[in-house]
Amino acid sequence: MAKTVTLTVDGKSYELPLVEGTEGERAIDIANLRRDTGLITLDPGFANTGSCQSSITFMDGERGILRYRGIPVEQLAEHSTFVETSYLLINGELPERTQLNRFSVMLNDHSLVHEDMRSFFENFPRRAHPMGILSSMVSALRAFYPELPERTEEEEINITFARLLSKVRTMAAMSYKISLGHKVVYPRHDLSYCANFLNMMFDSPVRPYRIDEDLVRALNAFWILHADHEQNCSTAAVRLVGSAKVNLYAAISAGICALWGPLHGGANQSVVEMLQRIYDSGGDPTPFIARAKDREDPFRLMGFGHRVYKTYDPRARILEKMVNNVLKKLQRHDPLLDIAKRLEEVAMKDSYFIDHHLYPNLDFYSGILLRALGIPLNMFTVMFAIGRLPGWISQWKESLDDPNWKLHRPRQIYTGPKCRDYITMDKR
Ligand code: SDX
Repeated sequence: MAKTVTLTVDGKSYELPLVEGTEGERAIDIANLRRDTGLITLDPGFANTGSCQSSITFMDGERGILRYRGIPVEQLAEHSTFVETSYLLINGELPERTQLNRFSVMLNDHSLVHEDMRSFFENFPRRAHPMGILSSMVSALRAFYPELPERTEEEEINITFARLLSKVRTMAAMSYKISLGHKVVYPRHDLSYCANFLNMMFDSPVRPYRIDEDLVRALNAFWILHADHEQNCSTAAVRLVGSAKVNLYAAISAGICALWGPLHGGANQSVVEMLQRIYDSGGDPTPFIARAKDREDPFRLMGFGHRVYKTYDPRARILEKMVNNVLKKLQRHDPLLDIAKRLEEVAMKDSYFIDHHLYPNLDFYSGILLRALGIPLNMFTVMFAIGRLPGWISQWKESLDDPNWKLHRPRQIYTGPKCRDYITMDKR
């Protein structure tokens, strides 16, 4: 297999090294391209550009494969917990019993939110979007939890990981309770990570929340499926902001803002809003599919398509099964699930979607599962953010430890006016 490629420019040839990954992916290493040739590359949206080498997550978009540290996501969703998968992503290996217990105790110890932060929550407008609140509060964590000189860098980093993984979950539930004007429910030491979240969200002095292990299991799997996805938009934002050596809270806050977008993590909310519109218009998806195919119409079928997956997103398949199981357990029927299945059935027979390789992605069924768990619509992307935290953290840590680390600073091709003089106001 070739180790280099030859680039010929203006009659001069240059040898560029090829880099090969564990699964046979290959890339042209252009680290010295501009120095040697005076040229840069241009790749809007970075669809053909790798920003790093990473050992965390492997995706094969053609075959619909997703593995965290080499383990298929299907196996983790079935056998693991979100806390254990978070440990795997951050540390590279599944924890032994004592390691997992120590990690769980650390998350428990850092599950409370500084009481002075409550006034922040109480002063956001009641209708503020939870993603805007979350990104602000995560960035504010540095102010409430400054670095302590007596701690080593490793201790500081590990405590910051625990604070983010544990407090962001608590903040999400706290924000929801305060938005309702209800009493805040504190985390409990005797509940697991996911059970604690559901209890903080739905327990009340007048209606105690009954923990349903099947729902806890479903939430674990939901967050496992969201935990990492190599260099997606929000992870790229965390790495880029983190490359300036800013504190992790600020880098994660940037990731939350990127995830908020409807083309990215915000799609889970947009999918349910779209399904609701189809339901309200009588349940026939064909007018919406027609709009999605119309190049003059900016409407897109939310929950369909993916930059990397050109086949069914493996996570969507698992989520669809989970939705069926949870609704069956709750003995509940969600008409939006029927709409989603009908929409998928019609789209998957349409040449436009087949030719464009547009299949259901992670967000297509995830919102229906969140509805079944009782999560309010405007918190769907917050749920995605909590799940993605271990991925953002592990990717930030990998970039920090990367011997080839550099400040992220892309180049450009200038297309503006040539040099010209300033014109004084009287001559304009
Ligand atoms: C996530 O990157 C990740 O890994 C993200 C994620 C993660 O885990 O982090 O997987 C999570 O963000 C999933 C994606 C959620 N977003 C949506 O469901 C929003 C709807 N989907 C799209 O807007 C779109 O598919 C993207 C943004 C997800 C990907 O689009 P690309 O790769 O930038 O491709 P494109 O926009 O250039 O589209 C290529 C063609 C275009 O048609 P042509 O102009 O070539 O004729 O496909 C069409 C697009 O119009 N197209 C769609 C479509 N998605 C793409 N047409 C209708 N409906 C859609 N959903």
